[in-house]
Amino acid sequence: MSKRLATDLVHAARAGAVAGGWHVPPIDLSTTYPTPDPSAASASLDALVAGDASASNPVYGRLHNGTVAHFETAMAKLEGCTDAVAFGSGMAALSALLLAMRLAGKDHVVAVRPVYGGSDHLLSSALLGNRVSWVNADAVAAAITEQTGLVLIETPANPTLKLVDIESVVAQAGKVPVVVDSTFATPVLQQPLTLGATMVMHSATKFIGGHGDVLAGVISCGAEWAARLRQVRILTGGVLHPLGAYLLIRGLSTLRLRVLAAQSNAQLLAERLAAHPLVARVHYPGMNASPEQQRILSQQMSGSGCVLAFQLHGDANQAEAVIAGLQLITPAVSLGSVDTLIQRPAGLTHRICDPKDLDQHGVAANLLRVSVGIEDVEDLWSDLLQALDRAAGPLGLAA
Ligand SMILES: Cc1ncc(COP(=O)(O)O)c(C=O)c1O
Repeated sequence: MSKRLATDLVHAARAGAVAGGWHVPPIDLSTTYPTPDPSAASASLDALVAGDASASNPVYGRLHNGTVAHFETAMAKLEGCTDAVAFGSGMAALSALLLAMRLAGKDHVVAVRPVYGGSDHLLSSALLGNRVSWVNADAVAAAITEQTGLVLIETPANPTLKLVDIESVVAQAGKVPVVVDSTFATPVLQQPLTLGATMVMHSATKFIGGHGDVLAGVISCGAEWAARLRQVRILTGGVLHPLGAYLLIRGLSTLRLRVLAAQSNAQLLAERLAAHPLVARVHYPGMNASPEQQRILSQQMSGSGCVLAFQLHGDANQAEAVIAGLQLITPAVSLGSVDTLIQRPAGLTHRICDPKDLDQHGVAANLLRVSVGIEDVEDLWSDLLQALDRAAGPLGLAA
């Protein structure tokens, strides 16, 4: 029985707990499993290699792991689909997706910028044999060809927080599967599959883990794509470690509380930054947004989230000077942890992208991205304020 999200976040990974005699999902660290019955083991191996979710014998840790399966069961339930397939990182998940598309006989991706720099580079590099057409969100239909196997969007987008209308992209894609990278939104704020998307992916390294101590990726989808993704995972080995799966299950229990607390901090910081004389522009869903962006926000998200970005009246060096002046907020890439992190995307997370593309899609050299945590918001604001004040001198402005 499906319950409300807050309940599912706590209980979805505990399916079978009472019958199994456990309370928290057991951590199974075995890399191999005894095979006393060779024909049963062979049948299990055949089933797993064909993409089945489980078999009577797991055979080998790269083929199946019970702790990882508990996390996958939870993610499928939370996203409202039958299956989920977990990987050792978000990039491993995206790589598997591109290879799964090749298994489905297609090689062309239509994608909307901006996306995370690593995803942009992987898609553009053609390393995995795919071609990509980068288009605006309203030009997806025109870019689709016979060979298009996936439409990929990231919303809210990293690092500009721009929103893409999922329903519009789904309508334009027709029969072509749409995958939404919903890392910034989490299942708490956005449910892409209810809007018609075929798959939803997360860098679970971020909010789902939530404490900066596990790298993971997950794709939630129907049975057909899940089978392909498992086939690829077995062949390429980008598995999630069972200890990581355990930490993700633990993270899910508090996901809603963390997201709501961090979101209210982010909202307040975005408003105060927007009113600060040194700040030229704040990027936060719904804030000073076009009517179109406002419409998308209210149509597909239940809140603006926990990540914001801002630009100073100044260049990249002056933006770096603000980071250097911070005493509480940590200068670091990644996001979604309980503590607040800041970084300059053009210098780090998106450095690998072509500067012309960054410029065109609003990833300015002086843009700073803040992943807001759950600390006391007044401490976060004091830290930002004193760092902005310090930078005021070099900026030649009165703070
Ligand atoms: C939106 C988004 N998708 C995918 C990834 C890649 O995930 P990972 O770092 O877990 O490989 C990231 C990483 O920052 C991201 O922000």
